[in-house]
Amino acid sequence: MPSSVMPTSSLGAGQEPPVAVSTIGLRKSYGDKLVLDGIDLRIPTGTVFALLGPNGAGKTTVVKILSTLITADAASGDIRVGGHDLAADPQAVRAAIGVTGQFSAVDGLITGEENMLLMADLHHLSKREGRRTAAELLERFDLVEAASRPASTYSGGMKRRLDIAMTLVGNPRIIFLDEPTTGLDPRSRHNMWQIIRELVSGGVTVFLTTQYLDEADELADRIAVLNDGKIAAEGTADELKRLIPGGHIRLRFDDPSAYQSAAVALREVTLTQALSAARPGGAFNDDALSLQIPSDGSQRELRSILDWLDAAGIEADELTVHTPDLDDVFFALTGDTTVPHQSKETVR
Ligand SMILES: Nc1ncnc2c1ncn2[C@@H]1O[C@H](COP(=O)(O)OP(=O)(O)O)[C@@H](O)[C@H]1O
Ligand SMILES: [Mg+2]
Repeated sequence: MPSSVMPTSSLGAGQEPPVAVSTIGLRKSYGDKLVLDGIDLRIPTGTVFALLGPNGAGKTTVVKILSTLITADAASGDIRVGGHDLAADPQAVRAAIGVTGQFSAVDGLITGEENMLLMADLHHLSKREGRRTAAELLERFDLVEAASRPASTYSGGMKRRLDIAMTLVGNPRIIFLDEPTTGLDPRSRHNMWQIIRELVSGGVTVFLTTQYLDEADELADRIAVLNDGKIAAEGTADELKRLIPGGHIRLRFDDPSAYQSAAVALREVTLTQALSAARPGGAFNDDALSLQIPSDGSQRELRSILDWLDAAGIEADELTVHTPDLDDVFFALTGDTTVPHQSKETVR
């Protein structure tokens, strides 16, 4: 994804890219219930950051704090949004950001256009400027035809689009999208992804929360997994995938007897641990005539496995390299111990 490439080349040596959002030791309790237990974030300008976590993890709480709707606990460290200190200058933060909440800000009783004009008023745009901005955004989000209908008649996808269009009235440089695709049908979801990509290509920083691993994988330059009030892991999708085991090479055979002899050879080598002392044994799937060998997918490992296959006279009809996906990471980090690709097959 080109948006994942930071324009570091235009920066001098040692210069850091500008940071859109940063927190140090962000904490929040509701009564004696600790929800955020020291969150450190650092989100470069012009990137998409995904805060990933199950229901109740604290994602909305983070968004509400960063968008000045609620305050962090006093024990928190520095929080900066758009270059402004959140505690000292919340007004400046508000001017730099836009928020689309988990629950829509759209007023169903008035039309889409009236919702837009209301936002324009809130942003103190002149009548003329307000009408121009509203028309432009309604066009951009494919809402022109629906603009004069009450928003209550809109589909879920249309409401979300109107919600984002309303957020953009103030031309924010940083946008918070709290679960922007939850409850949307697949087509509206993909529409929303496209909208997010377009925002980022316009230089906007997007802070996104999601429960969907594929969404984070698809959109985000960096992902943080929120669990038990802490960031359980943070990095690019690829970095997160490398954190956990689960990569393997899969060999599939057309001929049952070729499969059997390969399985026997693999079992022997696994028994003697000749392949790797550190690795767990291979997995076998008799029905699919396939077997899998744990591997980090590196060239070196791939070569050693290919050499071993050659030496053992094994020729598979199909060889595929699987790197773990975000599901594996998510389950590993949030305490679910079943490794999905293994649970689907017989492990001997
Ligand atoms: N105003 C509140 N008062 C008390 N507890 C709250 C309040 N808001 C959220 N919580 C609790 O904080 C935790 C995190 O909530 P939330 O940030 O909404 O999680 P998420 O958005 O990840 O689903 C949940 O256990 C929730 O019940
Ligand atoms: Mg939430």
